[in-house]
Amino acid sequence: MRILVTGGAGFIGSALVRRLLHSTDSVLRPERVTVLDSFTYAGTEGSLGPVRDDPRLRVVRGDVRDVELVDAAVAGHDAIVHLAAESHVDRSIASAAPFVSTNVGGTGVLLDAALRHRTGRFLHVSTDEVYGSIAQGSWPPSAPLDPSSPYSASKAAADLLALAYHRTHGLDVVITRGANTYGPYQHPEKLIPRFVTNLIDGHTLPLYGDGGDIRNWLHVDDHCQGIALAHRDGRAGAIYHLGSDTARTNRELTGSLLAEFDAGWDRVTPVTDRKGHDRRYALDTTETQRELGWKPTVDFEQGLAATVDWYRENRAWWEPLIKA
Ligand SMILES: NC(=O)c1ccc[n+]([C@@H]2O[C@H](COP(=O)([O-])OP(=O)(O)OC[C@H]3O[C@@H](n4cnc5c(N)ncnc54)[C@H](O)[C@@H]3O)[C@@H](O)[C@H]2O)c1
Repeated sequence: MRILVTGGAGFIGSALVRRLLHSTDSVLRPERVTVLDSFTYAGTEGSLGPVRDDPRLRVVRGDVRDVELVDAAVAGHDAIVHLAAESHVDRSIASAAPFVSTNVGGTGVLLDAALRHRTGRFLHVSTDEVYGSIAQGSWPPSAPLDPSSPYSASKAAADLLALAYHRTHGLDVVITRGANTYGPYQHPEKLIPRFVTNLIDGHTLPLYGDGGDIRNWLHVDDHCQGIALAHRDGRAGAIYHLGSDTARTNRELTGSLLAEFDAGWDRVTPVTDRKGHDRRYALDTTETQRELGWKPTVDFEQGLAATVDWYRENRAWWEPLIKA
């Protein structure tokens, strides 16, 4: 199988590529992996460092909105895993335009190319944020979309576009919607790496609002395994939830990180809450567990401690991103 991975130089995309090429646990064993990535501020060569010399890897520097380039990149592939996106909610609140352009427009360009080339499975990687906030219980995949931020609205639009290509054209589309993901190689603008790198450097931690927002945390290895299983075993047109049972308020998460550094609450500075901030996300994973046999395996406290260690040991990767 020859797989095209868009956004393969980003956090989850690079973890997937490293897993596809180097992990003995990988359920997909491609003969070629092509990364298509425009290397925005969020994409780095270093994230692909461990697999850089693998002869099965090709890296195409290009934008998913570029019709001609995408057409050439898609040719010769049997499958696509689409992760390329503008992914930071705060940036989408500052300006929605790049989110609409890349997340919606870029997805449309890729779907057209997949159709033209009769590429096989098109796995579209999406997020729990498309459902908006839920006070209690969890969203099933049939729940209505009710996104709160320009980021999640652009992801919801891309999901609907992908599903429409399945219904209209019979394109072999599968969607995964994942929970808040953490692990190594995540850009330091995101919550966990931001707090960890601030703790390493002796800075304070900016905690939004009352710190009571609840997130379910999923290790990036579990997220990638879910993507690979959905790709291999999922039904065309289906939506799979990659959730986790690790519900933590941001305050609880902050407490765990402070404990990793033997630091106290004097290191925390409350800041004005993010506009339109969702209180709680939660995904019902029953169907995913039954159909794909997937469930998270990484214990949160262990995964968090290992992630903290990774940032301690890999300053050379994250420091230039903070200075950029
Ligand atoms: N991180 C999470 O918690 C999470 C959870 C669920 C779903 N997701 C989804 O997973 C995917 C990957 O998320 P991530 O956290 O790895 O994001 P990321 O920001 O770390 O990586 C995104 C990658 O896409 C590339 N990219 C951006 N615009 C592009 C364009 N126009 N053309 C080509 N490449 C472009 C960037 O260079 C980067 O390498 C996204 O679609 C996101 O919506 C993320």
